[in-house]
Amino acid sequence: MKPYYITTAIDYTNAPPHIGHAYEKVLADVMARFQRLNGREVFFLTGVDQHGQKVQKSAEKAELSPQVFVDGITGHFTALWDKLNVRYDGWAATTDPRHKRVVQAMLQKLHDCGQLYKQGYTGFYSVRQEQFLTDKERGPDGVFGVEWGEVVELEEENWYFRLSDHVEWLKSYINSHPDFIFPAHRAHDVLNALEGAAQDLCISRPLERLSWGIPLPFDEKFVNYVWFDALTNYISFAGYLAGECGNEGLPDFANLWPSEAHVIGKDILVPAHAVYWPIMLHALGFSDDQIPRLIVHGWWNMKGAKISKSLGNVIDPNVLADTFTADGLRYYVMRDIATGYDSDFSEERLVMSYNKELAGGLGNLLNRSINMAQKYRGGVLTPGSYDDAENAALRQTVAEALTVYLEKMNSWAIHDGIHAAWKIVTHANAFVDSTKPFSLAKDPAQAARLDSVLYHLAEAWVHVSVLLNPIMPTAMATARAQIGWETPAGFVLSDLKWGLLKDGHQLGTPVPLFPRLEIEPPAA
Ligand code: ME8
Ligand code: MG
Repeated sequence: MKPYYITTAIDYTNAPPHIGHAYEKVLADVMARFQRLNGREVFFLTGVDQHGQKVQKSAEKAELSPQVFVDGITGHFTALWDKLNVRYDGWAATTDPRHKRVVQAMLQKLHDCGQLYKQGYTGFYSVRQEQFLTDKERGPDGVFGVEWGEVVELEEENWYFRLSDHVEWLKSYINSHPDFIFPAHRAHDVLNALEGAAQDLCISRPLERLSWGIPLPFDEKFVNYVWFDALTNYISFAGYLAGECGNEGLPDFANLWPSEAHVIGKDILVPAHAVYWPIMLHALGFSDDQIPRLIVHGWWNMKGAKISKSLGNVIDPNVLADTFTADGLRYYVMRDIATGYDSDFSEERLVMSYNKELAGGLGNLLNRSINMAQKYRGGVLTPGSYDDAENAALRQTVAEALTVYLEKMNSWAIHDGIHAAWKIVTHANAFVDSTKPFSLAKDPAQAARLDSVLYHLAEAWVHVSVLLNPIMPTAMATARAQIGWETPAGFVLSDLKWGLLKDGHQLGTPVPLFPRLEIEPPAA
């Protein structure tokens, strides 16, 4: 089976990362870890979008050369991914010479097969969005809205891509491939956008206006439009044209492509990922079964408002990870949003999820399970032959959790996957309350039952630690170390069956997994 090839958007390097960037990378990392745990080989690509007007302007402002400027911002991204345990296999930086060679080779191919042409044009141009505007972008009052920033009238020659030639193909592709976009309802947005007269896409910028980009190989007075350059990362870093470009250290493209998951935010679906990208691939000769799948997530807002530098509501994910640990933050951004929908970032809910769910529910269960076994049995587990209905019910919850977890995780419902694993936690905590091991310990006649209770608690925890591993890899490894059980090499979810802890198993020392934080939620 070919590897599971998953990508994220590549982040603009005009400013350091915020919680939205962190969410997307954690989402992809969780899916990559889940797929590995489920037995797939995985190639996870992420990176940075380093060219374009936004970056050129930010560099000018900072009085740095664009390369020095992007290297600095890129360092903020890589440091955050290290801190959050986002483990990628490939790093896509668009100033990488290997990428530039592929972009140029791709442009040359499109040029050679007549997909590109040069034309003069006069029109209104949004400096902020780096695009020419049409009447469609005018508000009801006939003016271009503030979201376009400064709008200037420009006259210039440029290179165009024959996008309109492929719009009919794209419509029929979308209609016949309901899996192309997740969640499916987003396909309507794309089809709506394709209504009306199709236009070709301007893919160049004159050097005088934009120098920070990849030169067109057949007309060096122009650089490539940043979206064309950026989208190509998904194939250039997967080994596309590696041979003809002399690129080394990249995967075998034939073995990897197509991607099963381009994880992106809803703002970059139309037109970039759902129109330009499939049409670029189609024009390059990719067949219908070589078109990648789009996973479109929603946005984190701040009290209903967009997160933006100008609103001054940007929260540094580094600070959150320092306070709540990387896993605490990973858990929050996975449990408090449904993939495809928006959510509101709330520090109050972050504190609650950490203190109540991680410290109180999950951590406390582990701590008391190991503590009791240490106290009553010196940490040695002997399952024995005692059994009863309460034990059987806990085992059933554990088995059902795996089934639901698999279904939910496979369909990107990460929050529901977490919920499935949490059913074990809730049941096991209730199991302690109802079996009362502290009373059983006082009665020698109940020794066999106590053995079975202690065993069930520890074994249930092993299952929890495997299911939650993609979400909280560090804490779950720590938990397994306390239990004294490490996932054997090559262990996959289908090996997750009752009885992983053997008779005579020695538990380790309990240390609070998520020490409670004495933080008051911020005043509203
Ligand atoms: O768009 N909540 O880069 P970018 C959730 N370079 N996700 C968010 C978000 C939020 N508040 N804010 C941003 C770009 N994102 C291009 C991509 S891909 C070939 C080129 C997501 O830094 C956003 O939706 O503006 C996008 O998927 C990613 O962060 C990078 O955004
Ligand atoms: Mg953006």
